[in-house]
Amino acid sequence: MPDKVQRVKGVNDILPNEARQWQALERIIQDVMQRYAYGEIRPPIFEKTELFARGVGEDTDIVSKEMYSLTDMSKTSLTLRPELTAGVVRSYIQNNLQQISPVQKLWYEGPMFRQERPQKGRYRQFWQFGAEAIGSPHPEQDVEMIALFQAILDELGIAGSVTLKINSVGDSESRATYRSALQDYLRPHLNELSETSQIRFESNPLRILDSKDPRDKELVKDAPKIRECLNEASANHYEQVLKMLDIMDISYVQDDLLVRGLDYYTHTIFEFTSDALGAQDAICGGGRYNDLVHELGGKEVPAIGWASGIERLLLVVETISPLNASPELDLFLIVLGDDLRTQAPQLIRDWRIAGLSCDSDSLRRSMKAQMREANRQGAKFVAILGEDEFAMGVVQLKNFESGEQESVAFNQVVGTINDSI
Ligand code: HAM
Repeated sequence: MPDKVQRVKGVNDILPNEARQWQALERIIQDVMQRYAYGEIRPPIFEKTELFARGVGEDTDIVSKEMYSLTDMSKTSLTLRPELTAGVVRSYIQNNLQQISPVQKLWYEGPMFRQERPQKGRYRQFWQFGAEAIGSPHPEQDVEMIALFQAILDELGIAGSVTLKINSVGDSESRATYRSALQDYLRPHLNELSETSQIRFESNPLRILDSKDPRDKELVKDAPKIRECLNEASANHYEQVLKMLDIMDISYVQDDLLVRGLDYYTHTIFEFTSDALGAQDAICGGGRYNDLVHELGGKEVPAIGWASGIERLLLVVETISPLNASPELDLFLIVLGDDLRTQAPQLIRDWRIAGLSCDSDSLRRSMKAQMREANRQGAKFVAILGEDEFAMGVVQLKNFESGEQESVAFNQVVGTINDSI
């Protein structure tokens, strides 16, 4: 036998049983996005590599070691999108979306690609849904963003087992002040830091704060806090955000070590984490990125957004509050005798056109086997068609739940079923 081709490491097949859970989640996402007045955007799956290098940052893990890049026939370097904020901003600039409305509220869903070490909740192709609001600098926009994800958690019934962690990295002036304060604090201990953090000491010292290395963790425990280095405008923005969260009764934990791994953030940053997961406990991450539109060639337009990993979110949903996503089949047609098989496709098509979900056996199996198949598919009704029934233009319609059975004319089947469900 020829060898079987296996799927690539770190990617998943989403099979019909699971896909039903995804669809149930997608219905909730679409409904909540509509209620919050966000419009869907579908940018391409690959972009010029340059977009991510400039947008996400050369020094980030994503750009320096995780991208799937290739060179196309015209020698342009292209990359499968590792995230979508840079792509949405590129699209916003290129399509002049600010002319349509000064605040663009957008949402998206789709696969992302990062060459990370696969483990539970961390994949090389994973799905995100996310939202970006481009145009408003004000704290009420930050709070709406957070409330938007919270609303999805509420609909899923898992808000109680998720923690919102929040911090502010301030504007660029505040970050420069903090950077020096942190470097001053760490300099005497430079040799005690992990190798990665020693490199980051110059290039991106804030990332040392979220290092997983125990040596780094011990050192940063007593490091100065970024909150203490915020200038007045940044401190004020952050205070307003917290105040509005309090008013809305959205609980949060201030996390001084939260920095996030992408370079574009300014001011408010946040993550939603869940104890139901292992090491990969972040189900959503985001924040403000007031400089990104300008850095990617647009005007100075402030923005904020978040993205959530669907596989991780569904792991939490499965443990805490599984979605009702059982298959739904209204009717299974059982055909007795091969002579009648020619009639079956026509009958079943009419019922499908009328809106029923119907199926029948395509293997010409025995009545018993057909009955078993109807059961397996969870059919609410079976319609039995034998020679006598066909001659009279009827089927024996059996309600699986009540056990009742009656003779029903072909053109009455849809009405009878609709009346009883
Ligand atoms: P991120 O924190 O890199 O942010 O990813 C957001 C979420 O995507 C994570 O919290 C996690 O749930 C999921 N995720 C990330 N990597 C993986 C992976 N390898 N496997 C499974 N799930 C994963 C961003 O991507 C930003 N673009 C978010 C944002 C939008 N900030 C502003 N706007």
